[in-house]
Amino acid sequence: MSEATETQTHDHKDLVDEKIVMAYFFMALTFMLVSMLGGLLMAGQLLRHNPLSGIELFSPGRWRMIHTNAIAYGFLANAFLGLLHWSIPRLTLHPVLDKRLSWLIFAAWQIVVLATAAGLLFGQAQGLEWGETPVWIDPVAQLGLLLVAINFMPPILKVKGPMYVTLWYFLAMFIWTFLTYAMGNFVPEYFVSGTSAGAVGGLFIHDLVGLFVTPLGWGLMYYFVPIILKKPIWSHGLSLVGFWGLAFFYPLNGIHHFLYTPIPMFLQYGAIISTIAVEMVVTTVIINFFGTLWGRGRAVVEDLPIRWFYTGMVFYFLTCLQCAMQTTLTFQALIHFTDWVVGHAHLVMYGVFSQWIFGMMTYLIPRIWKTEWYSRKALEYHYWLSAAGVFIMASDLILCGLFQGWSWASLQPWEHSINVSFPFWVVRVFAGLAMFAGLLVFLWNIWMTWKTREEVELSNVALPA
Ligand code: HEM
Repeated sequence: MSEATETQTHDHKDLVDEKIVMAYFFMALTFMLVSMLGGLLMAGQLLRHNPLSGIELFSPGRWRMIHTNAIAYGFLANAFLGLLHWSIPRLTLHPVLDKRLSWLIFAAWQIVVLATAAGLLFGQAQGLEWGETPVWIDPVAQLGLLLVAINFMPPILKVKGPMYVTLWYFLAMFIWTFLTYAMGNFVPEYFVSGTSAGAVGGLFIHDLVGLFVTPLGWGLMYYFVPIILKKPIWSHGLSLVGFWGLAFFYPLNGIHHFLYTPIPMFLQYGAIISTIAVEMVVTTVIINFFGTLWGRGRAVVEDLPIRWFYTGMVFYFLTCLQCAMQTTLTFQALIHFTDWVVGHAHLVMYGVFSQWIFGMMTYLIPRIWKTEWYSRKALEYHYWLSAAGVFIMASDLILCGLFQGWSWASLQPWEHSINVSFPFWVVRVFAGLAMFAGLLVFLWNIWMTWKTREEVELSNVALPA
């Protein structure tokens, strides 16, 4: 090996800490497993089949919060942190500030997620959606977010010249997430009450999706799609329209969760208008990505990560279309509090962001382990079970929501809406089982890939003897 190549390899090794990427992936998948078990338990409870019935510690109300918190903070946050460790040093050609700090954050984050789960089980949940984390954990998580920003921002700030759109998203996300978390977890708790606290809560839940998950998801798409398709993004101009459109309109959306409440009407109308503005921005982003795919359409069939990504994008467009309806006062009167919203939540959290993460894991895991996937067929099963599972679950719940809404609107007794919902809830269990099976297949494939990789190395070692 020449000196130059040796130095390059050394530099590359220093650039990305691949072990931490895998450690984050491992934790993310573990929490996804836990979350899905919680989801299945809750789905069983709604069908009056609760295997843990009567055990207070595992009551459905507690498990439902484990389900959502394990997904948001256990799966999504862990997976995204791993992906940031891969993409930021590669994009900027600078390592993160301090690798020891990275491991400290990793350990601290797992403690935060586990402590949250324990707190929820032992009845310490706070009464704020997505902010259920017990009171004493909030400052620790806030400090963690500060450390994350301190660790990741220096390589981005060292970049000279124009910055690629992915880095715009990441840079803004570090600041937005810190502020959003502080707003949701401290302002309603200590500074405001009543409708004002409600309004802040609405902003918080929507900004968590829009200013934490969305910039990470799209930022990573702008990074991985051109690399895998081996062509630049269709329009850099349009990608900036997407970024600034999100930055400008998204923060105002949150109150659309609380239409028809005592929150002042001008705030409700403001939220409706900015939600419609976001729909337009989203359309530009989707056009940009399909423009990038133009001429390489076969990749959706042949390349699994690309298939995961574009499936997620189609689901993204569908969820945004749903939003356009949900945000109107007329339609919301029908679907608010129904399973329509639960269908929407699964479509966006699982149909979009989890599919993107699975695509990125499918691309990265063999690269990090420098080996091939053990089974391509298993990857196909993972894809089809997950994509079909979530499509069925979301369509089923969305339809269920309409029937529930009509039942309530026609002033039928409450039991009527339960009876109407029952068949839909049965379908949800089967769709959930398909998604769960998909995850198990993926975990098995990862395990076998690791195992056979070890065997290859061992046999290599044995060869010379
Ligand atoms: C085994 C698969 C799953 C099943 C059976 C399942 C089932 C459920 C159930 C029964 C609820 C409570 C609904 C209610 O309160 O009426 C729920 C809520 C929720 N689930 Fe799942 N789930 C599954 C997987 C997932 C995944 C993978 C994600 C995210 C990536 C997810 C995200 C959510 C969210 C965000 C909510 C809250 C919805 C809301 O409050 O509007 N679920 N799920």
